[in-house]
Amino acid sequence: MSAWSVGAGLEGRGVMVTGAAGGIGRAVAAAFASTGARVLAVDVRQEAVDEVVAGLEGGGHVAAAVDLADLSGHAALVQRARDELGGLHVLANLAAVLRRAADIDAVTEDDWDFQLGVNLKAAFFLCRAAGRAMIAQGEGGRIITFASQGWWTGGFGGSVVYAASKGGIVSMTRGLARTYGPHRITVNAVSPGQVETPMLMTGLAPEIYERMREQTPLGYVAAPEELAGTVVFLASQHATYITGATINVSGGFLMY
Ligand SMILES: NC(=O)c1ccc[n+]([C@@H]2O[C@H](COP(=O)([O-])OP(=O)(O)OC[C@H]3O[C@@H](n4cnc5c(N)ncnc54)[C@H](O)[C@@H]3O)[C@@H](O)[C@H]2O)c1
Repeated sequence: MSAWSVGAGLEGRGVMVTGAAGGIGRAVAAAFASTGARVLAVDVRQEAVDEVVAGLEGGGHVAAAVDLADLSGHAALVQRARDELGGLHVLANLAAVLRRAADIDAVTEDDWDFQLGVNLKAAFFLCRAAGRAMIAQGEGGRIITFASQGWWTGGFGGSVVYAASKGGIVSMTRGLARTYGPHRITVNAVSPGQVETPMLMTGLAPEIYERMREQTPLGYVAAPEELAGTVVFLASQHATYITGATINVSGGFLMY
């Protein structure tokens, strides 16, 4: 075990962060880079990931513009991590989409397919591709998925479909933890409450934002950076015996 610091064991390691141009993803990519890890930043727009990578501490980081809803690109993406970062030790999968519908009768099949397609289907296949690579490397690994308070509450502000995808993430994370445990690959979910990012504000009624804030014992909406420490910790040498967990980072909005 190396020294006690939140990113212990990550120096020189290959880390893939998806949704890296998003609010929380940027903070997670920056936190990993500050540990000395090499980051493959993945998001849909090339300029956005280039900008994220340009701002990262240290060197050897890579930007990849990929639509993860297209499963046919996953194997090549994992291969890029192995080739260009020198291996894939961590996958932090944050990429997700939210389409709110105030009236449940307005939810379309396309709304369902779009959200489940990115949030759950792509998450499963990318985790599996990463798991396969980690097994081949033979050094264990870390997979960190992203749920949401919605996995537990069913969601607020017209987000039933999104919440269903996040419920799936929790079950999937547990199943993958069972599957990959024998290979010393841990799989855990991070579950935020409200976080100040573009996704949260997508069509959210101000009164729902306020009500949730009031019901949060800490009394404020998290900054993206407040999620990053948990992700880095789960990837570090200090979290070797944690797997299948859903870590609630909601300022006390939920308590479990
Ligand atoms: N912000 C919150 O309050 C909140 C609360 C609970 C959970 N979360 C979860 O945290 C994670 C990060 O959310 P955020 O708030 O930073 O959201 P965000 O919208 O700021 O970032 C999400 C990123 O994922 C990317 N993305 C979407 N579809 C993609 C695809 N098909 N391929 C590649 N990239 C894609 C987007 O371009 C975006 O940059 C998500 O999993 C989200 O569900 C956020």
